[in-house]
Amino acid sequence: TAIQRLDYTAPAYWIDTVDLTFDLDPAKTRVLNKMRLRRNPDVPAQPLRLHGEELNLARVLVNGAGTSFKLEGSVLVLENLPEGAEPFDLEIFTTCQPAKNTQLSGLYVSEGTFFTQCEAEGFRRITYFLDRPDVMATYSVLLRADKAAYPVLLSNGNLVEHGDLQDGRHFARWADPHKKPSYLFALVAGKLVARQQKITSRSGNEHLLEIYVRAGDLGKTEHAMNSLMASIAWDEARFNLPLDLERFMIVATSDFNMGAMENKGLNVFNTKYVLASQATATDVDFANIESVVGHEYFHNWTGNRVTCRDWFQLSLKEGLTVFRDQEFSMDMAGSPSARAVKRIEDVRVLRTVQFPEDAGPMAHPVRPDSYVEINNFYTVTIYEKGAEVVRMQHNLVGREGFARGMQRYFERHDGQAVTCDDFAQAMADANPDSELSQRLDQFKRWYSQAGTPRVRAEGHHDAAAQTYTLTLSQSCAPTPGQPDKLPFVIPVALGLVAPDGSALPLQLQGEAHATGTERTVVLHEASHTLVFTGVAQPPVPSLLRGFSAPVILDCDYTDEDLLLLLAHDSDPFNRWEAGQRLLLRIAIENIAKGPYESRAGGSFEQEMLPPAVLQALQGVLRHPQLDAAFKDLVLTLPSETYIAEQLPEVDPQRVHAVREALRLELATRLRSDWEWAFEAHQDSGAYRPDPVSAGRRALAGTALSMLCLAAQASGDVIWPGKAYQRFKDAGNMTDRFNALSALVASHHALAQPALERFHALFQGDALVIDKWFALQASRPDHGGDVLPAVRQLMQHPDFSLKNPNRARSVIFSYCNGNPGGFHRADGAGYDFWAEQVLVLDALNPQVAARLARSLDRWRKLAEPYRATAHAALQRVAAKGDGLSSDVREVITRALAD
Ligand code: ARG
Ligand code: ZN
Repeated sequence: TAIQRLDYTAPAYWIDTVDLTFDLDPAKTRVLNKMRLRRNPDVPAQPLRLHGEELNLARVLVNGAGTSFKLEGSVLVLENLPEGAEPFDLEIFTTCQPAKNTQLSGLYVSEGTFFTQCEAEGFRRITYFLDRPDVMATYSVLLRADKAAYPVLLSNGNLVEHGDLQDGRHFARWADPHKKPSYLFALVAGKLVARQQKITSRSGNEHLLEIYVRAGDLGKTEHAMNSLMASIAWDEARFNLPLDLERFMIVATSDFNMGAMENKGLNVFNTKYVLASQATATDVDFANIESVVGHEYFHNWTGNRVTCRDWFQLSLKEGLTVFRDQEFSMDMAGSPSARAVKRIEDVRVLRTVQFPEDAGPMAHPVRPDSYVEINNFYTVTIYEKGAEVVRMQHNLVGREGFARGMQRYFERHDGQAVTCDDFAQAMADANPDSELSQRLDQFKRWYSQAGTPRVRAEGHHDAAAQTYTLTLSQSCAPTPGQPDKLPFVIPVALGLVAPDGSALPLQLQGEAHATGTERTVVLHEASHTLVFTGVAQPPVPSLLRGFSAPVILDCDYTDEDLLLLLAHDSDPFNRWEAGQRLLLRIAIENIAKGPYESRAGGSFEQEMLPPAVLQALQGVLRHPQLDAAFKDLVLTLPSETYIAEQLPEVDPQRVHAVREALRLELATRLRSDWEWAFEAHQDSGAYRPDPVSAGRRALAGTALSMLCLAAQASGDVIWPGKAYQRFKDAGNMTDRFNALSALVASHHALAQPALERFHALFQGDALVIDKWFALQASRPDHGGDVLPAVRQLMQHPDFSLKNPNRARSVIFSYCNGNPGGFHRADGAGYDFWAEQVLVLDALNPQVAARLARSLDRWRKLAEPYRATAHAALQRVAAKGDGLSSDVREVITRALAD
C-alpha cells in the first residue's frame, strides 16, 4: 500500500536518548534498547507504535516494570504508557540473525565482519523504534563481542570506554555527541586495520581521520584519505562548514547494496569507492572515489546536521549533496576545460538515465507524492535531477548568493528535520532581489512536477532591420498521475555566434547598449520572444549553455549551424553538444532507412558520415589546444540508450547495428588520425590520476580500440599485437584495461588469452575480477553471442549472486549495459532477466528491484521485442504475493496503463 506525502503527521512521541547494548553473534545477536521517550504535546494522545522487522521480541519494560503490548503485523503497539508530559523509560530486548541477513539492510555479516545499513528503514531490523527521520535522538552504544574474531568495535561518535570481558570477549562504548535520526546509526565489528591521519582544521581543532579496511588492503587507501582531507578543506573554504567531530571514520565493505552511506562519523563504503592503486584501479575509479568520499563527507552537513522531515524530502539532502560533490570535483579539476568535461559527464548521466526515467512508468517528481517502497526512490531523479534543480537555484542567485543561502539554511534549520520548501525558502530569502525569490512558487514546480520539459527555439533574422528574433516555448508531456503541467522557470544561458565564428555582443530591443556576449534568459511563460538588435548577419544561437536547465532543447539547426558551433562556440558544453547532435542526426537517419546489415568484413553499403562532419571530427581530434579528455568526449558516439530515447519506436538491434557501423566507419576513415592520437598521448612520467593525464590515457585508449576495430575489418595484425603488448606491459590499470577492452570489443583472437592472463594476474582481487566479469558481459554483441557467455560466466567459480558487486558486474552489465546483447529478437535476454529478478528477489529485494527496472521502457520497443518483453514482465508479476514489495512496485508500475 502506498504512502502519501500529504498524509504526513508529526510523531506522537519523541525519543530523546537511546542506549543500545549489542552482544554480537552472527547466528543470534542480542540487542538491548533502552530509550527515554516523552509524548509529543502537539499531537493528540495515542498509543506508541514502533516499527520492527524480522526481530524476535523477548522483553518490554516501561519504567523498569513489565507492561502489556501487542504486535500488529510487524508493529509493536504499547497502549498503557504513562500519561502526561513526563519522560519515561522504555526498555526493549530483542534478537536478530545477522548471518542470515542476505538483504544487507539492518545488521549483517560480510566476510566475517558485522556491518549495518539503516537508510532508509533498516534500523527497524535491529530494534523496535520510531524509524523515521524526524525523530532525532542522542545515542550511546555498548558493543560486546569475541575479541579474537572481532578485534575492532566501532559505532558513531567518540570512543568513551573499552576493555576486556570474560571468556575472550571485549567491549567498547561509543557516544555520539550529535542528535541523529535512526537511519544514520551505524556499527561495525570485525578484523579490520586502519589508515590514520591527524589533521588540524582551519578553526584550529584537531581531528582523527580513519579508513578501515581488511588487512591486505591498507596500501590502497591513500587516495581515499587524500580525497577525505580535500573534502574537509573544500567544505570549509567554500561553504564555511567545518568538520564537527573529533573522529571521522570510513569503513569499507565488499558487500554493499549501493555506493556508500553517510552514517554520522562512521561512513560505510562499498570497497569500490575506497580501494585504489595504480595497478588495480582505473582513472575513472580514482575520480569516482574522490567524488563519493566527497559526497558522503558533505552529507555531514547537508543530510546529517539538517536532515529530512520525511522520505518524500529525500532530494533535500541528496540533490543538494550531489550538487556539492559535483562542484567539489570541478573545483578539484581546476582548469575551465576540465570543469567542462566534468559537466559533460554529469549531463551525459542525466540524459541517458534520468531522462528515460522521467519519460517512463517510474517517473516521479524530485519530491515524490507517494511511494510503496522508499528504497525504490533512491533514483537518478532524486539525485541527479535534484542536483540540477539546486544548480538552477545556484545559477539564479549566483555563487555568492548561493553561499549566503546555505548560511541562512543552516542558521534556520541546524539540528532540524526539514523539507525541500525550507531549503528553497532560505535560498530565496537570502537573495530577496533575485529572480528565484521573485518567482519562488513557480520555480518550485521543479520539485512537484515530473517529466522532462521540452524547450523549442525558433529564430528569425531580419537583414533589413538587423534584428534577430528568438522565440522560446516550453511544454512538458504527461507523466503517471500528472496529465497537465504548468510552465516551469527555465534559465536559458545563451549567446549568438556570427557566421565567422565570433561571439556577438548581446543587445535586446529597448536596451541602451550591448552587455557581454552571454546572458541567461529566464523563460517562465509558455512562450517568450526576444529581439536582439544590431545583428547584421544571420547568427547561430548557442542555447542552454553549460546545460543551464534539465530540459530537452529542440532547435532546427542545419548541419552547417552545428558545424559552426562545433568549431567555434565559446561554450565548451555546447561545442560538444553540437557534435553529438550531428552524430545523433546521422544515426537516426540511417536507422530510419530500414534494415541495415552491419558488415563485419569492413565493406560499407554506403558511407554514413558526410565529409564535412568527418573533417570537423578530425579537426577536433588534431586540435592543438583542446584537452584530450574533451576530444575523447566529442569523438564518442551517443550511446545506444541515448539514441533509442530519441526514437518514437525502438528496434534495438537496428540501433546497435547502425551505431556499430558508425564506429567502424569512424575507426576506418580516421585511421591515421587515431594512430597519431595513440602515439601522441603516451605518458612517460609517474602515474597520476589527475584530469589532464587521465584525459590523455582516455583518448589513447579510445584510439587503440578504434585501431583494433579498423584492424579487424582490414585483417591487419599490427594494432591488435600492439594492444596485446600494451595489455601485458602497462604500468597502470587504465592502460591495461583499455588495451584488454580494445581486444575484447573487436573480437580479436588475442582477446581470449588476454582475458585468461588478466584473470590469473588478479585472482583474489574482487574489484578487479568484477571488471573482468563486467567487460565480458558488456562487450558488443555479435550474432547473439553475449547471452550464452553471460550464462557461462555465472557458472564460473568466482561468480556469486549474493555479492551485489559481483551480481551487478555480470547481470546488470548485461541487462542494463549491453542493449545490443540484451534485446534479442528471440526474447531470450528478457527470459534471462525475469529469471534473475526472481532469484535475486529471494536474496536481496533492493538489488532485485534495481534489476527490475531494465524493462522500464518496454512500451517503446518495436515488435517482436515489445511482446516478448511484456511477457517477461508478466511472468515476474505472476509471482504476486511471492514478490518483495520492492520488485512488485516496479513491475506494477511498468505494467500499469
Ligand atoms: N544516502 C546514501 C548516499 O546517497 C545512499 C543510501 C541509499 N539507500 C538505499 N536504501 N538505497 O550516499
Ligand atoms: Zn547521498
